Amino acid sequence: MGIALIVAYRMKAKVEMLLSMAKNANLGAAKNAKNDEFYTQYADIQKEVNAYIEYNPDVFRGKTILLPCDDPEWSNFTKFFAQNFEFFGLKKLISTSYAIESKKYKTDWQPTLFETENPMYNVEKSRIKGKIFTLTHDTNANGRIDIDDLQWSYLEGDGDFRSAEVTALRDEADIIITNPPFSLFREFLAWIMEGKKQCLVIGNMNAITYKEVFPLIKDNKLWLGTTDVRWFYQESTDSPLYEAAHSRWFTNIDHGMRHKPLQLMSMADNLKFNKKLKGQTEYQRYDNYDAIEIPFTEVIPNDYDGIMGVPISFLDKYCPEQFEILGSTQRGCHDLVPDTRRYDDYWECKPNGERTGSSGGKTNENGNLLKNDGVHNYFENVEGRQVQSTYGRIFIRKKQ
Ligand SMILES: C[S@@+](CC[C@H](N)C(=O)[O-])C[C@H]1O[C@@H](n2cnc3c(N)ncnc32)[C@H](O)[C@@H]1O
Repeated sequence: MGIALIVAYRMKAKVEMLLSMAKNANLGAAKNAKNDEFYTQYADIQKEVNAYIEYNPDVFRGKTILLPCDDPEWSNFTKFFAQNFEFFGLKKLISTSYAIESKKYKTDWQPTLFETENPMYNVEKSRIKGKIFTLTHDTNANGRIDIDDLQWSYLEGDGDFRSAEVTALRDEADIIITNPPFSLFREFLAWIMEGKKQCLVIGNMNAITYKEVFPLIKDNKLWLGTTDVRWFYQESTDSPLYEAAHSRWFTNIDHGMRHKPLQLMSMADNLKFNKKLKGQTEYQRYDNYDAIEIPFTEVIPNDYDGIMGVPISFLDKYCPEQFEILGSTQRGCHDLVPDTRRYDDYWECKPNGERTGSSGGKTNENGNLLKNDGVHNYFENVEGRQVQSTYGRIFIRKKQ
């Protein structure tokens, strides 16, 4: 093959690769934008909120609740809280929506009759302004405060939660509740924390490991809610349901489940009777942390006083009276559990021994075990020392 031909061939391959990367990035962005428009089912809101009411019937009494990133014409948050306004003893309910023209993922949106039949309806504002809905008292004098008493108007801006006017509403509120746009979760949570507010919001379980989120969880300033949320709809309750697996409620409002300690066995009993540890005669220690590896929450021993690395799903069962959280593998969240070994002079191999081309530095912040199961990639150094990494782990210790 002539040199010119080889160069042309390589260039073609490179262009194809770049095009495919751009296509994947576009697909990813399109998926994120679509997920930003997932709406929460009424029953999911009800199930979760009930857990807080059961734990403290006065949890919302006399409080102002803000539901940002909502849209009462499509969404159930406003419906649910308006319907329960009296039962919860709310002082004020505020909900804000985001203008259709500002949304990244646009549907063939039409204003509802609720808006068009109102004397305030404005064709232009309808597309570019957000709306604010408030509920404080019985406006139609039918003897009760409910959804029919909601008052609305257009906002000055598009309803972006970061705007000065929605931020002022945040400051007025005691509690912020919503399912925010998935792609802005970190920013949204930071916005709540900056306002020092109580919250109940939906996010992806992966958010736990974000460097902006994990420290809050570690310090018991944020925790997981009580129920799963998995299925969402888009814009109309008649739409099919879409799955956003691993979605969870994040909150700093107390609930009963987090005060129920896990029922656990001793180390010896786990090794003897727990099927999940079949074949193990002892708990493994990490090669690079002064801690033991706990592959499943159910095998946490109740008589070990040292540090344990547990799966992230442990947080569903976390009781702060039973355990303290010290850190996590990855993203530099392990100041209290420093790494005792680095792998920069290792290289990564596939199960068949072939090198992948990646350095061992890649596994520096994982919990690593001295083993090679022959199934997963492993890391090796010149002395033939081999380690394999575990999934993300949270470091915990029994409360003294
Ligand atoms: C995941 S949906 C949830 C809607 C509703 N809260 C629910 O759960 O049923 C997020 C909503 O936030 C809106 N949104 C997107 N970016 C926003 C922003 N920067 N500020 C306010 N709302 C935004 C989206 O258009 C969408 O209506």
